[in-house]
Amino acid sequence: MTEDKPDIPQLKEDLCAAIDVAAGLEGLEAVRVHALGKNGVVTQLLKTLGGMSPEERQTEAPKIQGLRHDISAALDEKRAALEEAVLQERLASEVQDMSLPPPEPLMGSIHPVSQVMDELAEIFADLGFAVATGPEIEDDWHNFTALNIPESHPARAMHDTFYFPSGQQLHSGSPANGDGAPMLLRTHTSPVQIRTMTSQEPPIRIIAPGRTYRSDSDATHTPMFHQIEGLVIDRDITMGHLKWTLETFLKAFFERDDVVLRFRPSYFPFTEPSAEVDVGYSIDDKGRQVIGGADHWMEVLGSGMVNRRVIAACDLDPDTWQGFAFGTGVDRLAMLKYGMDDLRAFFDGDLRWLRHYGFSALDVPTLSAGVGA
Ligand code: PHE
Repeated sequence: MTEDKPDIPQLKEDLCAAIDVAAGLEGLEAVRVHALGKNGVVTQLLKTLGGMSPEERQTEAPKIQGLRHDISAALDEKRAALEEAVLQERLASEVQDMSLPPPEPLMGSIHPVSQVMDELAEIFADLGFAVATGPEIEDDWHNFTALNIPESHPARAMHDTFYFPSGQQLHSGSPANGDGAPMLLRTHTSPVQIRTMTSQEPPIRIIAPGRTYRSDSDATHTPMFHQIEGLVIDRDITMGHLKWTLETFLKAFFERDDVVLRFRPSYFPFTEPSAEVDVGYSIDDKGRQVIGGADHWMEVLGSGMVNRRVIAACDLDPDTWQGFAFGTGVDRLAMLKYGMDDLRAFFDGDLRWLRHYGFSALDVPTLSAGVGA
């Protein structure tokens, strides 16, 4: 190849050989750049056309253009072959045996108690309530004294409390610590009322779901069970607010508008006045209890206006701040809504029971899609 007469057939042979042996798409791209890139050998040749005499150009131009054409055609052909090879390789490695049995359905399910707690959090979040928590190992002051249940109060006996051996200090930071009173497993979620009022400025709107413990066991009682507490503290709160909140909550929870509530005067040391709330139900042809209407009544909730003494025990002025509280059993709500009849099965961990009553992890309760889908 001389300076002014490049050996085009030779160049073509060399480039075609390089294209031929290119092992992959990257190697081929390197050959393309070497030949047709901005400074490629063929590109350089094309540039020489500008400096040629018209006669010379007439003979040289077809050769150089022809070279460019042949090289691009060879590149295209090789690229198609390489891409095809890549595809074939993938198809060969991604074989699907259509005769295989379908995959096993997903194991594991959401326990009805967790599902109901999520449903309750969703319903109350929509009403502006935050979720609060407290320890399951409580001291006497939070579980009883601050809730207006003094030491000699018969309500303490009614609670069937599990006490720790006295003198054990399991956590610190409460006024009761140091007075020698034994720690206990909280008997209700009401101590979270105290923990919230002593750590947070009103206005307060919280729900507190969690585990509670009483020494009690039969078809409707287990030593560990779940409660949810509600607390609202603000100015000028009345029983009317309590009634509306509970009605709105139970209608959303049972997903029906014909939920009828009956407020029955009752007594709790930490609320004054207090009311137990019954919900109306009827019996269907299969003998099952169906919530709605006012044929029969069952008790579902304890509630009332927060006792002035409780507000004062939390260092708030009861003349400024009032509120209501309520508490109910989560397990009980789950049984009523989803039709289980033995509470003990909730805690047996029997996979057959969980498969039957459990929820899919994808079944996240939302107000728009239904809280109990
Ligand atoms: N703590 C009460 C119980 O466990 C329920 C309750 C809560 C009643 C709040 C009134 C207000 O029975």
